[in-house]
Parts: sequence; C-alpha cells; structure tokens
Amino acid sequence: MSSVTLFDALLDILERRRRDNPYIELSPENQTFLTQAALHASSAPTPATPTPAALPPTAPADDDRTPKPAPQPPGREPPAAEAPNTAAQPTAEPIDLGNTDLVELETMVSACTRCELCKERNRTAFADGSADADLMFIGEGPGADEDREGIPFVGAAGQLLTKIIGAMKIRREDVYIANIVKCRPPRNRNPEPDEAAACLPYLERQIELVAPKVIITLGAVPLRFLLDQKGIRRQRGNWLDYKGIPVMPTFHPSYLLRVPDAKRDVWNDMQQIMVRLGIQK
Ligand code: URA
Repeated sequence: MSSVTLFDALLDILERRRRDNPYIELSPENQTFLTQAALHASSAPTPATPTPAALPPTAPADDDRTPKPAPQPPGREPPAAEAPNTAAQPTAEPIDLGNTDLVELETMVSACTRCELCKERNRTAFADGSADADLMFIGEGPGADEDREGIPFVGAAGQLLTKIIGAMKIRREDVYIANIVKCRPPRNRNPEPDEAAACLPYLERQIELVAPKVIITLGAVPLRFLLDQKGIRRQRGNWLDYKGIPVMPTFHPSYLLRVPDAKRDVWNDMQQIMVRLGIQK
C-alpha cells in the first residue's frame, strides 16, 4: 500500500472512531502530524513512509468537552501546529467596566446580550467563591448544571474540581472560580472566538478586582482565550504570566473524568501551586 493510501486509510479509521466515540484520544497536534505526513507523502517523489509505529505516542486530546474537528483531508492546508493563535480574540464591541465592582459586574453579566450565547441561556454563571481569594480558577464556560444553577463548576467536573481544591488543603469557598464565558455554549461546545472576545472584558475585570496571587487555567479554552496560547499538553505544568500574575495551566476536570491517568499530572501542577502559595514546602 502506498503511503498516501495508508494515510488516507488511517485518517478514515480515526475519523470513524471519532464519530463513534467523540472522546477519541487524538490531539490536534496528532491530527496535524497525520495530515502533514499525508501531504508530504503525496508531494514527495520518494515519499517518507512513517508507519503507525513511527507515530507520536497516543497523547491525551486537548481537554475540550466537545469533539475535535475532523482531520483535514489531504489537499487542504492544515493549521500550523505552532502558529500563533491570532484568531483567538476578534474585536468585540468595547465596553467600559473601569469603575465597576463585582456586584455591579455580576448584574451587568446577568443582563448581557453581547453575543449569541445569551439567547439560549437560562442563567449566567458569573463566579463562585471568595473575592479575597489568593487562588483563582478559570474554566471554559457553564454546562447544563451551571446554566440551571447559575454557579460555575457545580456539575460532575465541578465536583471533581472541589475534590482537587480540598486535596490542596484549601476550602472551595476560599478560592475564586470563573469561566471564559458566562453563558452556556449549546451542547457544551467550546466558546467561539467572538463569544470569548465579547465576554473577556468581564473576566479581565474580575481578575483585576480579585487580584489573586495565582491563577489556574483549566484546559485549552482559557489557555487560548486568556493567554493566547495553544497546546495544553505542552503548556500544562509550566508557569505563564497574565499581567504580572503567575498562571499555571492544567487539564480541565472534565478531561480527568475521561482520562483518570491524567490526574497525576494535575496533582503535580497543584503541588507547584501549593509551594508557591506557601501551603507546602
Ligand atoms: N466546565 C467549565 O469549564 N466551567 C464550568 O463552569 C463547568 C464545567
């Protein structure tokens, strides 16, 4: 079998598996790798013949809650794996939140119509926890439970997050928990760039007002939209910076529910934070 046919067949198998199981462990990097390998194979006179054994080890998919887009068919330009994420933050209508406090901000958010997500929401999920928190968690956006209750991270992923916080010897009520978007994206899909951009000023103001000592971003979505970075597998566990505040990207608890082995990585990340906060030596 030629390499082109081999890769076409492999992509086809992976795509069918993805349809059967939306949580197939195929990261965007691996999708890009496969696509680029197929493109390379179709253009090279003597094609390199990566075999399945030469593929990168199966790695956790980005921890999004929704299926990844299908691998790009050969012939279409795939997104460059390391390209800067310029699509992350399209311009949204400016909004002046300069003097708002958290109560005013929450009121504004509850009436917000800056993006389409407002049309299907039941309740906005503004934040949970303490405005004096040293530690702030930032997730993606509300799911069905959060949309019903109006509080971030109260569903299954939230319960796991609460356990993680407890394991850090912190009470959930002493941290501050927010999301990139405050309204539930339909079917728990990831927020679109324009939705994230419309909502981001609220989160930026929340961060400014809470002024945490450390931020933990949960999953690929806040990494992308708050920090303009991609590659959660590569970035997790490494300190980043948001306006002078140290940020630790880690996996999303929804991902841990699907891939319990990744809890080890998250626990390593949490230990770094505990050291930073002086909870652990
Ligand atoms: N996932 C999130 O990212 N946020 C929530 O509030 C709930 C689940």
